[in-house]
Amino acid sequence: MFKFDEIEADKLAFRYGTPLYVYRENVIRESYRNLKNAFSDIKTRIHYAVKANSNPWILRILKEEGAWADVVSPGEIYLALHAGFPAEKLLFTQNSVSDEQMKYALDSRVRINVESLSQLKRLKVLAPGTDISIRFNIYIGAGHHSHVITGGPLSKFGIDWESTDQVKKIVSEGNLKVKGIHCHIGSGILDAEMFVRAVKNLLITAKKFPDLEVIDFGGGIGIPYRPDEKPITLKELGQKLTGEYMSFCKDYGKKPELAVEPGRYLVAESGSLLCMVTSINKSRKYTFMGTDTGFNHLIRPAFYGSYHRIEPAVIREGEETTAVITGNLCESGDIFTRTEDGIEPRRFTPIEEGDLLIIHNAGAYGFSMASHYNSFLLPAEILVKGSESRLIRKRETYNRLLDNIPDF
Ligand code: LLP
Repeated sequence: MFKFDEIEADKLAFRYGTPLYVYRENVIRESYRNLKNAFSDIKTRIHYAVKANSNPWILRILKEEGAWADVVSPGEIYLALHAGFPAEKLLFTQNSVSDEQMKYALDSRVRINVESLSQLKRLKVLAPGTDISIRFNIYIGAGHHSHVITGGPLSKFGIDWESTDQVKKIVSEGNLKVKGIHCHIGSGILDAEMFVRAVKNLLITAKKFPDLEVIDFGGGIGIPYRPDEKPITLKELGQKLTGEYMSFCKDYGKKPELAVEPGRYLVAESGSLLCMVTSINKSRKYTFMGTDTGFNHLIRPAFYGSYHRIEPAVIREGEETTAVITGNLCESGDIFTRTEDGIEPRRFTPIEEGDLLIIHNAGAYGFSMASHYNSFLLPAEILVKGSESRLIRKRETYNRLLDNIPDF
């Protein structure tokens, strides 16, 4: 029987029900420390990108480790403050932000990472004299899917790095203080060289701003989802970036801190979606193993064609089977074993109805992208540490579906 730390999967399913998000606390702490160690030669801030998993219990673990946080909405500010992050350790990087949302950040004393000239002009009027950060589009983009590439001519994010003169003009009109600069090139990147290129461009821009406290090169560090993918070598990445940064500091005359903003790297591998096989159906081409979850709970395969390793909790004796693992929703795209081009069956040890399956690497962008589509309830979430487990989000009940609906 598959175990999460020291606890058998069937014990958790019996106690908490399925579908269930299971996170292992030690894996989160280990990922944080690995990253921190890769940059041990320089003063580094790790900003956790809250969007990857915003459960306050997860936020609290990262806060305890010493993380800062990247927040992209007033809701994420609210959750991060609730989890105990001090306001000065948050950076607000919302896209397409309204004045009202900027006021929420300002009232919460959270620094704003400005990402368009129009936003900068509005902020100059709203809050002259404020310390800010600027997000630049440094014209380098990368990522596991076109949906998540956030640099270059197609990207809606950031101020063109050739517009620094305009930035400086607006900044001085509003007596704003540029304390940080930032870029984020994309998500799910396993090629360290892309980060080196990004940092080089960001450092060129940094030289134009003399009072920086922090230079933030964004998130995007990938994890290996497919068996043939290799993890990024953090040590090598750390060494290369440290080299670039040290030589920048010599010219710059000061040593701003270096920030990195990972979401996926810190939480993806800690989390699994534990579900149950509830139907077996055959077409002329495929054997479909239907489960009690779907893309309403883990959208990555349907949305990006992403690969998630799937493993039966019990390895049954007998001939292997080739199967397609599906969800229980009303769309044919509701398939967990697929690529962007469509269905990709996999080999499994024998699977029967009632068996538990573990969908791995689901700790990032799993629950945080979940919805009530088809009016199924959201999964419960638990945190496991050694032989202990703790409910960190209760299973919903059907009255949740009527939340905010006025009575007839
Ligand atoms: N910073 C900014 C400004 C971002 O936009 C993002 C992610 C991050 C940091 C964190 O990126 P990470 O280290 O997690 O790659 N739902 C997609 C990923 C979308 C990422 C959006 N921005 C997925 O499931 O692959």
